[in-house]
Amino acid sequence: MLPTLLLLLIPTLSPASAWIPVEDWESGNVTVSVGESGQCVCHVYTPDTNFPADRVQIMQQTSKDLILEVKIQTNKMVSYGGKLEVYLTDLSDLTVRVAMLESNPDKYIKLDFELVRVELEEFKALVSQLKGSLNSTSPVFDSLYAEIHNMTLVVNQLETFDKSNLDVIRIEFAKLQKKLEECQKDQEFIKPDIGNCNHTGIMRLSKPMVVQLNAHLNAGYQYGGWGKDSKPLRGLESMYFYGAYTGPAVHDFYLYSDYEKLLLRSAFKHHDIPSGWEGTGNNYIVHSNTIYYQHNTPFSMTKLNLTSAAFESRVIPAASQRFSYSYSDNQNLDFAADESGLWVMYASEESKGKIVLAKIDEKSFGIVDQWNTAVFKQLAGNAFMACGVMYATRSVDLNTEEIFYGFDTKTGQGKHLNIRFQKFQEKYTNLDYNPTDQKLYMYNNGYYVTYSVKFNDE
Ligand SMILES: *[C@@H]1O[C@H](CO)[C@@H](O)[C@H](O)[C@H]1NC(C)=O
Ligand SMILES: *[C@@H]1O[C@H](CO)[C@@H](O)[C@H](O)[C@H]1NC(C)=O
Ligand SMILES: *[C@@H]1O[C@H](CO)[C@@H](O)[C@H](O)[C@H]1NC(C)=O
Ligand SMILES: *[C@@H]1O[C@H](CO)[C@@H](O)[C@H](O)[C@H]1NC(C)=O
Ligand SMILES: *[C@@H]1O[C@H](CO)[C@@H](O)[C@H](O)[C@H]1NC(C)=O
Repeated sequence: MLPTLLLLLIPTLSPASAWIPVEDWESGNVTVSVGESGQCVCHVYTPDTNFPADRVQIMQQTSKDLILEVKIQTNKMVSYGGKLEVYLTDLSDLTVRVAMLESNPDKYIKLDFELVRVELEEFKALVSQLKGSLNSTSPVFDSLYAEIHNMTLVVNQLETFDKSNLDVIRIEFAKLQKKLEECQKDQEFIKPDIGNCNHTGIMRLSKPMVVQLNAHLNAGYQYGGWGKDSKPLRGLESMYFYGAYTGPAVHDFYLYSDYEKLLLRSAFKHHDIPSGWEGTGNNYIVHSNTIYYQHNTPFSMTKLNLTSAAFESRVIPAASQRFSYSYSDNQNLDFAADESGLWVMYASEESKGKIVLAKIDEKSFGIVDQWNTAVFKQLAGNAFMACGVMYATRSVDLNTEEIFYGFDTKTGQGKHLNIRFQKFQEKYTNLDYNPTDQKLYMYNNGYYVTYSVKFNDE
């Protein structure tokens, strides 16, 4: 039997109805097919007998069992409205991944061991997520964990073998790339209505989409943030930023040209913040290719213009350093950006520790308007802006968070909300909405996590 190398894409758990069937392709040593549960399955036949094909196959079989189990479980959950959307989120994430394979048509896709590890990490995260969401104690999960662990060990071993055979795999992957492109074209995705604020606010959030562990590959990097530019310059639309540390101090940022580079941890730029400009608190964002972050001495809002590499800062006289969010110290200034521009949230002695929401003018870097809200900052986990509304979150339990308050700057009114969502891990230091894709980006105990936001259009 020829060994088979499977490129494991996220096993998207799509209900059959949301899937346009695609015929299997076969061309020499590469085949691409759509699995029975709608996942993209790609087979590459190679003469490299070192590759643990049998193990991958077992893993694939186990994941099929899992998918079957998920199907059974989901059938039980009669008309659980949010479900479809979650699947679609996973699907659209697959599109991103396929797109990143396509983005370098004249270059071989590297069979990078790191990437395989990333796949395994993601798969593991997905399994945890499924296990949690299905509340299942099924042994399928345990055997899947064991197999993922075994695979990780094997990948590590493989790395030390003779790599000459890998050229064959590279050529096959180049072919595969083309096939994936075709595969992608046959899939339909619901695109969110980007930029539209004609709705009555957030209705719900998707399940957390765990992208991966931070670029330091170290769960000790609990303080940090990541995301995309909320108003990207032309040509920088796919850029991602990341920064993480073992303490609240903020001293560097990494920039990635696209999602693939983020996954591969291959930054095109590493900004080391010079002495005197260090930040803190991790509630930073990137807007118009400029990082806005909290500077501690002197306590001020600071921006680093990534185009000019120039720093600039502004003191907000009323802002106090006494009030932070509940998950971490030093979170005094929280930057946000939405469809209507730039914002900063802080608490003051005058506001008695309640969050004050201020609009920043991008040009002058000054505050042009502000509102008092009813949220005690120290009781909130974090806050973000979407369509001119400030949303504040709080912890319900270890796995559950809640958007419990919304303040609409158009009406000047606040109200209590009860929008619960699942956390991947308990604590997070950075949560921001991005109007370019209507997703929330969270830095959750060292993991990159996103949520799709569903607005209420009624
Ligand atoms: C498939 O791989 C084998 C072994 O490398 C090679 O001899 C054969 O020509 C390949 N077939 C095609 C159609 O590429
Ligand atoms: C999850 O499982 C536990 C223990 O089996 C059970 O008590 C609980 O009711 C279940 N929750 C759901 C939502 O099914
Ligand atoms: C993992 O590897 C060990 C040692 O090679 C083996 O005994 C075990 O059965 C493997 N586990 C699975 C789930 O394949
Ligand atoms: C906003 O949405 C409502 C309900 O869908 C619709 O009746 C109205 O025409 C929309 N307004 C604008 C400006 O698009
Ligand atoms: C950043 O610097 C560039 C080049 O000097 C300038 O054109 C741009 O307006 C600056 N952006 C911000 C947000 O200050």
